[in-house]
Amino acid sequence: MRARVFPDYEAMGAAAADAVARALGEDPSAVLLLPTGTTPLGMYRRLVDMHRLGEVSFLRATFFNLDEYLGLVPDHPASYHVYMKEHFYGLIDADPARIFVPDGAAPDPEAECERYEAAIREAGGVDVCVLGIGRNGHIGFNEPGAPFDSRTRVVTLSESTRLVNAADFEANRAPEQAITVGMATIFESNEVLLLASGTNKASAVAAALEGDVSESMPASMLTLHQRTVLFLDEDAASDLGHGVPG
Ligand code: PGA
Repeated sequence: MRARVFPDYEAMGAAAADAVARALGEDPSAVLLLPTGTTPLGMYRRLVDMHRLGEVSFLRATFFNLDEYLGLVPDHPASYHVYMKEHFYGLIDADPARIFVPDGAAPDPEAECERYEAAIREAGGVDVCVLGIGRNGHIGFNEPGAPFDSRTRVVTLSESTRLVNAADFEANRAPEQAITVGMATIFESNEVLLLASGTNKASAVAAALEGDVSESMPASMLTLHQRTVLFLDEDAASDLGHGVPG
């Protein structure tokens, strides 16, 4: 695992966008596994700008999302379907037939998880996985304790995650469960870009990079991954005690 530190959020997002665009330049039919949240918004903005300038095409790429809340219909304003459409898929030349987001309203969520995992497999696995990190070290909705050998499944969200995300929901109550791509599926990605910004991520970043590799700190698994790069702004890197692994 390597880390790159950028002066601020914009620079971090721009560099992550450049890395995604480079991967698509090398393989226009790459399979991407993508995050939601506030952290990747700058990256998506920059990719949309690059697309408008004719610098990158997504036409042949395949897109998977990391997660979705259980119980939300795809047009629920707080759903990740809507997030992705508004911030990315609706603004680029993606082929709708190759956009996959877990269906949080599927009548049989377990079957939906199996279907989703199979779709990733059928696409040939993930080439580039982009991740945020939770303040508790989660990746996707793999909360502390998530088994490293887990696959796409239904999970219960931690109280801290529900609190952080509560403002997106009526009465400030986030759903209790979600569908998330599992730890093993993330680990099998050819390349992983983990983005973190702000002081509220600094302790999770330091624990993931410098602490023990443990299921209690999900992001720590990535220290074992040969092609993981952390994209950090200075605030997110501010608790690193051993310097930046380059
Ligand atoms: P954030 O979420 O980008 O909104 O901070 C990241 C995450 O929880 O994975």
